[in-house]
Amino acid sequence: MKDTEAHLKDVYAADGDTGALKQSYDGWARDYDGDMSRWGYRHPAMIAGLMGRHAPDPAAIVLDAGCGTGVLGETLAVLGYDQVDGIDLSEGMLQIAGSKGCYRHLRQQMLGAELDFANDTYDAIISSGVMTPGHAPASCLHELARIVRPGGHMIVTITEAAYTESYAAVITQLIAADILSPADESRKYVGLPGAPAAERLLARVHVLRRI
Ligand SMILES: C[S@@+](CC[C@H](N)C(=O)[O-])C[C@H]1O[C@@H](n2cnc3c(N)ncnc32)[C@H](O)[C@@H]1O
Repeated sequence: MKDTEAHLKDVYAADGDTGALKQSYDGWARDYDGDMSRWGYRHPAMIAGLMGRHAPDPAAIVLDAGCGTGVLGETLAVLGYDQVDGIDLSEGMLQIAGSKGCYRHLRQQMLGAELDFANDTYDAIISSGVMTPGHAPASCLHELARIVRPGGHMIVTITEAAYTESYAAVITQLIAADILSPADESRKYVGLPGAPAAERLLARVHVLRRI
């Protein structure tokens, strides 16, 4: 059995190879929740806080992009949100998410490719721990912006490494094109404070409003 550090090394070693990344998360799925909780995983709490500020209506139709095992869905269900869909590339992670009963629909879909949803489908799109090096490419923001409704919000964690490398440029483009406007931003924080130093990546939650 792999320990948490080995799983985390595997997912970062995939380095943009989607097949390897999917395999790593499939293999981590059963232990993921316990491992993340031991390391004090903070992204879901940050997203939940900003949902309360920008998408407070529990009747909101929400997409959890890269929902994994559904840690965020569980949190939102406790807060009364019961129209939350999830997508992820890993079937193993989706299976655990499905077992929790807190998502309306779960589908295997790839961020960075075309998404199988109509324009303006969601009131809010949330994503926790997915916009980080070697995971969802920054280009996924174009499709996410297409499927969130005008006036809706994207509330997403982005590690500082991914932001500098690629996300900042795409966000700047979408703002310049009058598709998104910056609505809020958290301070910097470490997503996994209990992890070994090399894995303690700084992140922020970015809130972008669809124009
Ligand atoms: C660190 S986990 C976060 C899972 C969940 N959001 C959470 O906060 O616990 C990253 C998740 O992103 C998914 N993922 C990575 N790249 C993806 C992509 N391009 N498209 C869809 N899902 C992706 C992985 O399968 C994994 O479930």
